Amino acid sequence: MQIARRRLVQTGLAGATFGAPFVVRAQAARELKIGLITGPSHNWTQAMQSFSEALKKESGGRLSAAVFPAGQLGNEATMIQQMQTGALDMGFLTLAEFSNRNANFGAFFAPYLTRDVSHAAKVLKGKEAATVLDQLSDQGLAGLGFGLGGMRHVLSRAAAPNAAALKGKKFRITPFAPLRDFYQFAGIVPTPIPLPGLFDALANGQIDGADVDLELVWTLKLFQQAKHLVLTKHMMFPVVSVMSGRVFAGMSQPDRQLVRRVMAVELDKLFAKYAQAEGEWLTQIRGTGIEVLQVGREFFGDVASAWEKHWSPSAPSLPKLRAEAA
Ligand code: BEZ
Repeated sequence: MQIARRRLVQTGLAGATFGAPFVVRAQAARELKIGLITGPSHNWTQAMQSFSEALKKESGGRLSAAVFPAGQLGNEATMIQQMQTGALDMGFLTLAEFSNRNANFGAFFAPYLTRDVSHAAKVLKGKEAATVLDQLSDQGLAGLGFGLGGMRHVLSRAAAPNAAALKGKKFRITPFAPLRDFYQFAGIVPTPIPLPGLFDALANGQIDGADVDLELVWTLKLFQQAKHLVLTKHMMFPVVSVMSGRVFAGMSQPDRQLVRRVMAVELDKLFAKYAQAEGEWLTQIRGTGIEVLQVGREFFGDVASAWEKHWSPSAPSLPKLRAEAA
């Protein structure tokens, strides 16, 4: 009897009444495919691995997720297209990519919107962020929640006492308009290079420096190529967990809730991870002996206000995010 009961639970038939004249359909087992561009050891990839394990456990083995890191399924633009057709189930993608499609998402990249990752986490869990997350449905996607990477800094080959000293130099940026404009306002030549090409671009001298976070400097050993790190903290760098709108709509209500709940736990763990790891990476980077310069907003002069003036008309969420951040 015990064994029979367990089988019914496993097949989702536990609610069926013996001898009843109707059939309760078993919820099919399902493996969700998740794509992302970060490498296997990056914290975003680890978070999705952890989500996969938690989902399996919480669903009694019926739901699971297979994680495809390092752009195995294509770049972020390709993965979004795949999710729109339902060919890919889920992605854990930079918000940067979405800001290229909906300028309002650019509001999150307002210079100096947040002080540090803990502050950024609060804004990303706030009311306006939830409103913006819903706007992903316009792109055929279901937004499950925001996470983040480290705060952004400047890594330079040459000494960089201020941004003016970098005028005319080529700096790698993640390819998205808000960051491109920020560097352009600073007179630094923005050179869009997706994450997988960053190390080689620095190593072969294609660029004079890069817009980075501490995780990249430490784990990709960028400190071996450029020896001046300026701790500017000029932007936060959100990631967003998204699901194909078609796939999400095809799931049962309890399954949708389960996926949302399990993801929310993983995103909270990711926020906590960065809050702790930023200090550790900095200590490790300092230990390499490269120059680490602590600067304030004066480093970029009036670039932040030029950016704000330029982006405010196309990013209506900006004043609300600033108010919540304050
Ligand atoms: C970047 O382009 O710098 C980046 C992308 C994904 C995760 C972290 C950083």
